[in-house]
Amino acid sequence: MAVTPILLEGVPDGGSLDLAAYERLGGYEALRKSVGIAAPAQIVEEIKRSGLRGRGGAGFSTGKKWDMALGKQGKVKYVCCNASEGEPGTLKDRFLIKANPHLIIEGVILASYTVGADEAYIFLKAKFEEEYRVLAGALEAAGHKGYWGPDALGRGISLNVQIFRGPDAYIAGEETAMLESIEGRPPRPRQKPPYYPIQYGLYGLPTLVNNAETLANVPKIILRGGEWFSRVGQPTSPGTMLFSLTGAVKRPGVYELPLGTPLRHLIDEVGGGIAHGRRLKAVFPGGPSQTVLVEKDLDVPLDFDALKNIGSGLGTAGVMVYDEQTCMVRLALEFSRFYQDGSCGQCPPCELGTSNITKLLVKLEEGQAVQKDLDFLVQVFGLVRGRGYCDLVSSAVRSVEGTVKLFRDEYEAHIRHQGCPLPKPESAPKALRV
Ligand SMILES: Cc1cc2nc3c(=O)[nH]c(=O)nc-3n(C[C@H](O)[C@H](O)[C@H](O)COP(=O)(O)O)c2cc1C
Repeated sequence: MAVTPILLEGVPDGGSLDLAAYERLGGYEALRKSVGIAAPAQIVEEIKRSGLRGRGGAGFSTGKKWDMALGKQGKVKYVCCNASEGEPGTLKDRFLIKANPHLIIEGVILASYTVGADEAYIFLKAKFEEEYRVLAGALEAAGHKGYWGPDALGRGISLNVQIFRGPDAYIAGEETAMLESIEGRPPRPRQKPPYYPIQYGLYGLPTLVNNAETLANVPKIILRGGEWFSRVGQPTSPGTMLFSLTGAVKRPGVYELPLGTPLRHLIDEVGGGIAHGRRLKAVFPGGPSQTVLVEKDLDVPLDFDALKNIGSGLGTAGVMVYDEQTCMVRLALEFSRFYQDGSCGQCPPCELGTSNITKLLVKLEEGQAVQKDLDFLVQVFGLVRGRGYCDLVSSAVRSVEGTVKLFRDEYEAHIRHQGCPLPKPESAPKALRV
């Protein structure tokens, strides 16, 4: 299958592009072509034409979001580039920062110019020290070249770009929690409506929030046109995506592939198939927050709509693969603990939902559960799904619910055998290895 790199174009294997190399490959051309020349509405049209959808999890139309930013809400003051990346099994933004930091920076500058923002933040967890070093170096170099600053490109446009090193918490990646932490408060999501960042964002002012990978697509779209981009990948999910492939495959890694690539191709051809001669048992195609798939689903094209149509989702394209030795109850418990720890605790359905799901899974895994515990677990899903300020509690439900549906016999065997009936795996499960 022909692979058309967009984000990693020209990036040497295992290497990265510094400013000079990036410029040699046409880097910052899109910026030169547009700052002070193209009308913002023209740029938004191009993004709309491209069909680009957000890479931060929800797949929302970037063109629509930018259109709202230009539209009725009044002038946008801030752009926030979300490189928080806390979803287990997802490491694409960190990979991209190290491989092609200027592509993200150029995307941030283009977004800021387009929506009229004069302050931009790139939000990174404080623990990502290497990524910070690379990004800070690249940002400084771009500033020295005049790509951002008090008089960007000498065209009378002022833009300040800074990196915000935020808390390590998963919840800090939720866009409104991110804004709270930039404002100096604990990362707790705001209620939406009314606090949509595009209306009431940072310090109450209109703010455009996009994921780092989303913004990295923008320079190439501006340079080559939305029409060109819309022809890569799938009609309703155009472009490529950085797939983080982890777990029981022979060659885990981050791979850029056109959207619509079949899951089977990613696992068998790109990832080399299941390691140690074992069989595949389960795949989470978009981090644990997207419903689990099994062997029969492997021909699904990896795109936003195809995965939604079979009851799952692309999310952040963190494809987590598990082999036959995996205990699905133990795995669900591992995920559930992650969400319980990650809940900020401000909404009861989330705090109680994640803790109850975890408690019931502990009972099941430790052999103390009876049938009514399993029934109650299923009831809890319905009680708490969609009831939080943000999607965390629904993610927690999705990560477990699919395992109960597809592997119910395994759950019931835990009740019958009063514990895990599976032999202890030869190697530790790789559920949360990244
Ligand atoms: C609990 C939670 C964690 C999230 N973490 C991230 C994250 O680490 N990075 C990210 O870009 N989006 C994250 N999101 C999604 C953001 O809220 C937001 O939708 C996204 O940054 C928008 O960018 P996009 O339109 O370019 O996808 C998270 C959402 C939730 C509910």
